[in-house]
Amino acid sequence: MKKIAVLVSGGGSNMQSIVDSTKKGVLKGIAKVVLVISNNVCAYALERAEKEKIKTACFERKYYSDDRSYDNDILRALKSCEADIVCLAGYMRIVGKNIIDAYPGRILNIHPALLPKYGGKGMYGHHVHEAVVKAGECKSGATVHFADENYDTGSIIAQQEVDVLKDDTPQTLAKRVLEAEHKIYPEAILKIITKKSEE
Ligand code: GRF
Repeated sequence: MKKIAVLVSGGGSNMQSIVDSTKKGVLKGIAKVVLVISNNVCAYALERAEKEKIKTACFERKYYSDDRSYDNDILRALKSCEADIVCLAGYMRIVGKNIIDAYPGRILNIHPALLPKYGGKGMYGHHVHEAVVKAGECKSGATVHFADENYDTGSIIAQQEVDVLKDDTPQTLAKRVLEAEHKIYPEAILKIITKKSEE
């Protein structure tokens, strides 16, 4: 069984989809979520994790003097739960180099657009869907990629296209993209686990 740690900041629907897939989906018998870490004590994701009886931890940046000591504490938590894979799921921070270096090819992120389009600093949540609708795109989608020290630049593991409909608003588009995210994230994790075990 591979151990997954999930880093979250908000609602945690992607975290939930990963947990669900370990119970009755593509990751059943293959992986389990052992720890959910949040940088936001109010994140609903923490409540979801507690309902699932998954260990949680919260590290708020404001209590640290610098990023390095903050990321060191997160790294310590990841090590203590013996995480094999780290999934960023709506985690609103760049992951520190110390963490990236400790988990080469094992930190994944999900983004609500077809990267490399509509990625980068400031492109998150509703900003992404607003930009896609404003540009008159006919396709958007979801991307799972490796995390690196920049915003949304790591190599792509999986993508799913979503049609942008003529009468879509950023909200209606976000809803359909989120459904695609929930499908591809567990599949992308499975892909990485399978690949790693063949190496
Ligand atoms: C998702 O759209 C994800 O792609 C982005 O942040 C959102 C998180 O949603 N990185 P949730 O917290 O998983 O519901």
